[in-house]
Amino acid sequence: MKQGDKPVHGMWTSRWAFILAATGSAVGLGNIWKFPYFAGEYGGGAFVLVYLLCIALVGVPIMVAEVMLGRKGGMSPVHTMIKLAAESKVSRRWAGIGYMGALAGFLILSFYSVIAGWTLYYIWDMAQGGFQGISAAGSLAHFEGMQANAWLMLGCHTAFMILTMWVVARGVSRGLEKAVQVLMPLLFVLLIGLVVYASTTPGFAQGVNFMFHTDFSKLSGKAVMAALGQAFFTLSLGMGAIMVYGAYMPREVKDRRTGQTRRVSIVSTVGIIALLDTLVALGAGLVIFPVVFSNGLEPSQGPGLLFVTLPLAFGQMPAGVIVGTVFFVLVMCSALSSSISLGEPMVAWLVERGLGRPLAALVVGLTAWVIGIGTVLSFNYWKDVTFLVGTFFQNIDFLASSLMLPLGGMLIAIFAGWVMKETQARKELAMKSFGLYMIWRAVVRIVAPLAVAAVFLNALIGALGG
Ligand code: PHE
Repeated sequence: MKQGDKPVHGMWTSRWAFILAATGSAVGLGNIWKFPYFAGEYGGGAFVLVYLLCIALVGVPIMVAEVMLGRKGGMSPVHTMIKLAAESKVSRRWAGIGYMGALAGFLILSFYSVIAGWTLYYIWDMAQGGFQGISAAGSLAHFEGMQANAWLMLGCHTAFMILTMWVVARGVSRGLEKAVQVLMPLLFVLLIGLVVYASTTPGFAQGVNFMFHTDFSKLSGKAVMAALGQAFFTLSLGMGAIMVYGAYMPREVKDRRTGQTRRVSIVSTVGIIALLDTLVALGAGLVIFPVVFSNGLEPSQGPGLLFVTLPLAFGQMPAGVIVGTVFFVLVMCSALSSSISLGEPMVAWLVERGLGRPLAALVVGLTAWVIGIGTVLSFNYWKDVTFLVGTFFQNIDFLASSLMLPLGGMLIAIFAGWVMKETQARKELAMKSFGLYMIWRAVVRIVAPLAVAAVFLNALIGALGG
């Protein structure tokens, strides 16, 4: 396939299309499923605070860098990095950022699809009224019953992976853009409604206190590492998803009202995405923890947290069958708009190597599906088979989310801050405020790499010491 300057992948049709797609990538299971269960597991407030700091100090600047590199390169992360390395006259090895990212996205996709598969089962169950008037113990038993059934989980994992690859195969603007336009706003509205509902439950004050009361004695090196990894995970950073979406971002758009072209600002765009992502995560916590405390449940129960607590709330509220079904449909859709971006760096790379899009999607989907079987089994037959940091699922998650994403993000920051010509970065970003630009530059050069290095070192010392 020819790879001149002409894009082989298509483009977003507007700035909003990019914002929606990138928000669709960012907002997903990471916000609604993972953030609350991590916060629960790592003790609440202090974890939440470190997470928010990681988003603001490390995540946002790296996201700016990633979009900038992507838009400059205009191709899959691998080829973008090859191109930019050549332009900066440095080693081709910088393409390693692209390869490692594609691999990380691929590993995440393998387990992401399994968890998203749970939402499919919950939609089905919820719609049938399976949770009406259910007790806390009943809800837990329900979840455990699903986990014990490996065939059921495999079926849902398969269905979700097919759905993902179908959208990916349809391509950038036809497939991805259409779906998120409707779903994202809907998810917001429903989440706000649920927070209002949660505020009427007796455990609300306790839930809020759990999330925002910072008790640093509970904070371990492992928790800080998890918070950093989660910041990367939730913003889809460090693996090229945002880079490849940036590659589909136009430099200029026509203003609908005035008809004039204007530049698309990367910084304000990223600000909107990070803000929306953070609001959804906090919103999910504000729904889940009040329900936990209202029903005497454990906040630290792990990956089942979302799936045990919310059905309880839906089982108690009026019109719970409808609200609950719609909610899980939206969670499923927001997972879908994330999972398509997990495969995209690898798919885009294969397309540039000459594969047709549908075939590339098939190859990526099928391989990730096979690895995902390991995650399916981690909840039943292999539940007690643990090594390194835990089950197969926990190892894949830790390797990809806690190690590869921060490492990838650090390399992206170093490339944007130290390797690339300063004038090039400044031109591509075209920030209006020079002061803001200097802050960004200081962060990607110094703060972000040091923060990642410090967290890694701290965890390493903790592991060796403990
Ligand atoms: N950000 C997504 C979520 O929070 C997950 C994701 C990670 C998507 C990395 C793409 C890349 O669910």
